[in-house]
Amino acid sequence: KHTIKTITCIGAGYVGGPTMAVIAQKCPEIKVNVVDINPQRIAEWNDTDLDKLPIYEPGLKEVVKEARGRNLFFSTEVEACIREAEMIFISVNTPTKTYGVGKGMAADLKYVELSARQIARIAPEGKIVVEKSTLPVRTAQSIKTILEAEGNGNKFQVLSNPEFLAEGTAITDLHNPDRILIGGDQDEDGLAAIQALVDIYAHWVPREQIITTRLWSSELSKLTANAFLAQRISSINAISALCERTGADVDEIAHAIGADTRIGPKFLRSSVGFGGSCFQKDILNLVYLCRHFNLPEVADYWEGVVKMNDYQKHRFAKQIIDSLFNTVSGKKIAFLGWAFKKDTNDTRESAAIYVAKELLDDLAEIHIYDPKVKKEQIFRDLEYVYSQDPTQSFDPSVLQSLITIHEEPYQALENAHAIAILTEWDEFKTYDWQKIHTRMLKPAFVFDGRNILDASEMKKTGFEYRGIGKG
Ligand code: NAI
Repeated sequence: KHTIKTITCIGAGYVGGPTMAVIAQKCPEIKVNVVDINPQRIAEWNDTDLDKLPIYEPGLKEVVKEARGRNLFFSTEVEACIREAEMIFISVNTPTKTYGVGKGMAADLKYVELSARQIARIAPEGKIVVEKSTLPVRTAQSIKTILEAEGNGNKFQVLSNPEFLAEGTAITDLHNPDRILIGGDQDEDGLAAIQALVDIYAHWVPREQIITTRLWSSELSKLTANAFLAQRISSINAISALCERTGADVDEIAHAIGADTRIGPKFLRSSVGFGGSCFQKDILNLVYLCRHFNLPEVADYWEGVVKMNDYQKHRFAKQIIDSLFNTVSGKKIAFLGWAFKKDTNDTRESAAIYVAKELLDDLAEIHIYDPKVKKEQIFRDLEYVYSQDPTQSFDPSVLQSLITIHEEPYQALENAHAIAILTEWDEFKTYDWQKIHTRMLKPAFVFDGRNILDASEMKKTGFEYRGIGKG
């Protein structure tokens, strides 16, 4: 039986930071170290001003305040913290590969591999290593091979413990998870390691909500969960296109089908398309795995979810250009929102980036307001998306002249030809839309990519209002 006194988590990102903060909060007798190679990120986690934490999540500040310095520590001392811990979580990033074999599809596991090699070198006596990052099925085998080869043949236990939190609600999801999933070897040592991790979560999660499985099932469950979730969004978005052609209303359809208990009401909101660092990356990873295991029909099936999402983003941008008399060149388009969803400052794969790019290609002047995203981040996102487009000779000075970022919404909207709502921030609903209408050019277009405003009110105010899936 293992007694875990110290945990170290490699990777202080959107997952490692909040997850470990909650473990530390709920298990005051366990010391929790969160380490990262990025010193700026660690400095921000240690900032005495809790508004400077590197991640914005409702409720995160309070958890960090309670545990930090007591049994929660953020540090760049990766080696010392690995040595000290009996259990090590790997929560590093696993982006889509941008080079070589599997480029644009497979997960890039180089950070995971580096972490495994480092653990083996520093802790040759053997530890429990927990995969927290989302990984392709059978990665635990590769990790074990590396650990045992580098670690002089010592025994390591590798567990899979995928994270199901959603950004924007990370702390409530961690406090009240639908379930915890732990996969491991089914022999005596494997079961003992599983039990050690069960004991940690059992501090606050009812035992019947902690699911234990074999390793491969756990790894593949995470990819499957994200594929199913994204598929629901692509499915309702596909219907939204048909609604716009036929006069049906996608929200009424979502309500009607969601009342069927077999379908259920959640995750049926039509929008400009899903974003975030996970859905697209994990589905492409799944598609790559299916091709690798020679299952092309299965691969094509799941790839359709990503294609439909790309189509939805494109359809939205095209509708803006078409409505503005087939060109947005020199026109002021105001963006409300840049984050990939509300209540987060994360912009990875945000639909806003792709919509902006299509409008910039047509030489629009885009004015952006987002309550939580920093100006530098928006420029980084756009520079990145242009750098990925081989047809575009990219001149950063053009970007600087076409993009304006505002700290305040009304200025962003002043004299705009059109407003595009890209994120469903609650505050957008509370704006004085009458006042906004008087200050815009006419016809005053609003393209509501999140269906958050009341269509009939907006039309009454005089807007040319376009929701998603509103025929
Ligand atoms: P992130 O990019 O925010 O954080 C990863 C951190 O790991 C970075 O701060 C990076 O500097 C650090 N890192 C990389 N290599 C390192 C090394 N060798 N030593 C020390 N630190 C290192 O990524 P995020 O969003 O936290 O995702 C982590 C994993 O969790 C990914 O596999 C992702 O798919 C998965 N995941 C993410 C969710 C999300 O909502 N963001 C939800 C569920 C799973």
